[in-house]
Amino acid sequence: MSQRLTTTAGATVPSNETSKTAGPRGPLLLEDYQLIEKLAHQNRERIPERVVHAKGWGAQGTFTVTHDITQYTCADLFSEVGKKTEVLSRWSTVAGEQGAADAERDVRGFSLKFFTEQGNWDMVGNNTPIFFVRDAYKFPDFIRTQKRHPKTNLRSPEAMFDFWAGQPESVHQVTILMSDRGIPKNPMHMNGYGSHTFSMWNKDGVRHWVKFHFRTHQGHKTYTNEEAERLIGSTRDSYQEDLFNAIEAGEYPKWTLFIQVMPEQEAETCGFNPFDLTKVWPHSDYPLIEVGELEMNRNPENYFQFVENAAYSPSNVVPGIGFSPDKMLQARIFAYADAHRYRLGTHYEALPANAPKADVHHYHKDGAMRFFRNDTGNPNAYYEPNQYEDAPRADPAVQEPPMKIDAEAFRHPQVITDEDFVQPRKLYAEVLSDDERKRLHQNMAGAMAPCSDSVKERWYAVLGRVHPDYEKGVREASESQPAIPVTDSTPVTAAE
Ligand code: NDP
Ligand code: HEM
Repeated sequence: MSQRLTTTAGATVPSNETSKTAGPRGPLLLEDYQLIEKLAHQNRERIPERVVHAKGWGAQGTFTVTHDITQYTCADLFSEVGKKTEVLSRWSTVAGEQGAADAERDVRGFSLKFFTEQGNWDMVGNNTPIFFVRDAYKFPDFIRTQKRHPKTNLRSPEAMFDFWAGQPESVHQVTILMSDRGIPKNPMHMNGYGSHTFSMWNKDGVRHWVKFHFRTHQGHKTYTNEEAERLIGSTRDSYQEDLFNAIEAGEYPKWTLFIQVMPEQEAETCGFNPFDLTKVWPHSDYPLIEVGELEMNRNPENYFQFVENAAYSPSNVVPGIGFSPDKMLQARIFAYADAHRYRLGTHYEALPANAPKADVHHYHKDGAMRFFRNDTGNPNAYYEPNQYEDAPRADPAVQEPPMKIDAEAFRHPQVITDEDFVQPRKLYAEVLSDDERKRLHQNMAGAMAPCSDSVKERWYAVLGRVHPDYEKGVREASESQPAIPVTDSTPVTAAE
């Protein structure tokens, strides 16, 4: 027998197809509240999309510890080999809107929410180990160049390359973006990186700096520009299809979590700034240490409820895992929760996608959509300090060990030095093969084809600092490109 169709207030509904009218030809009666209710709900079905990373694909699964890292962290989720933790993942492109095609050239977001017994730990990373800028002040400008031009309402390669040419530290990330890995076949065929340096501390209060790496078991698979263009012509949702269907078919994607570890004091002496988000830690100096396995094995029952409502934030850490001085990370600690309050509402952490498996007791109180309990059953325990033994209390035992900071407060300038080109040079000259380099030249030349000559020249100069062959290769590829009119660009005045 079918279920009773009800109003949201639980009363049985007489019809869901025929509105109430004065006579069979109309007009409608205002008293048909359920018709109004149905239309009103439809009007409210959309929430603001994420200002970045709006298009995404998610899954649920499990993280299992396979190796002991308790010498580095007292975090409960890593406390014993075999321990399992539920995870909600969301992968995304950065620039496109919610309806954007999946197989576009872009960095991919790689977000994981670990529902640990000590609260949620969010790893909000990308499929690249580095980023375009290393000062949060530049992030909104960078993102503006990835979005639509205010007049043309089109994406603007002129803006992108103008900005990157003015930020030569971006060349490392732009090289990865324009390499084969700039269009993964789907989220299952890419790595995830925490990117920032984080910290871990152990039960003795000893701190290490840490990088997180999730390496794919499925192998890196990518599309060329031409393959992606053909694919997008037939489906814009190829990632959603691949991921959903793989999980439905029981082909669960897996990743191995590794960490790189640096003793706290070594940050002073290691020869580079380990908190600079435009740099990796070389594997030869900081080898990968295996930690565990991530398997994503369930499709969420409701995409909106679990993927759109997911609220990831680098501020969500658990005892044993902490931040680092990385300026970008520091800003992200603020930015995400602020975005969630705007996008999802004050009590977003209590939504099913985000609700911790750990008990939640706090003194935040009311506000829109206060739909949950967080008290101890004692109605008087709604402020602190208080006299009630059963009231929630902070626990100093989870306090992070003190971090020594002895420095001058100043707007310390971010000077570009030769050091900024060493790692992109290694990637270009030693990691990529000849064929990969050729495709990198072609991809970059294609992407900057609509740019003005002045922007192109400024960018070539940046490439030249990485490697003369890089500049030459992209110049030659550009010259052999068919001319593309500068239709979607900002008129060039300032850069002359
Ligand atoms: P290694 O030779 O030990 O590492 C090279 C790394 O490059 C591997 O992790 C490999 O990833 C990755 N890689 C291969 N092709 C690409 C590509 N098209 N785009 C991005 N990464 C790619 O050397 P180092 O550790 O000294 O690093 C050398 C350079 O490699 C770095 O400057 C950086 O550009 C890049 N890299 C370094 C990483 C690190 O954490 N050290 C991580 C990722 C990239 P995989 O093993 O998955 O194939
Ligand atoms: C999403 C801000 C840098 C990865 C977001 C969102 C904001 C934001 C506001 C939308 C959040 C939401 O509405 O749910 C910033 C700021 C940055 C920064 C201010 C720099 C200061 C980075 C970096 C990475 C990153 C360096 C990766 C290493 C992501 C990911 C998402 C995201 C993966 C999507 C999360 C999801 O799946 O819901 N960012 N970001 N961001 N950001 Fe950043």
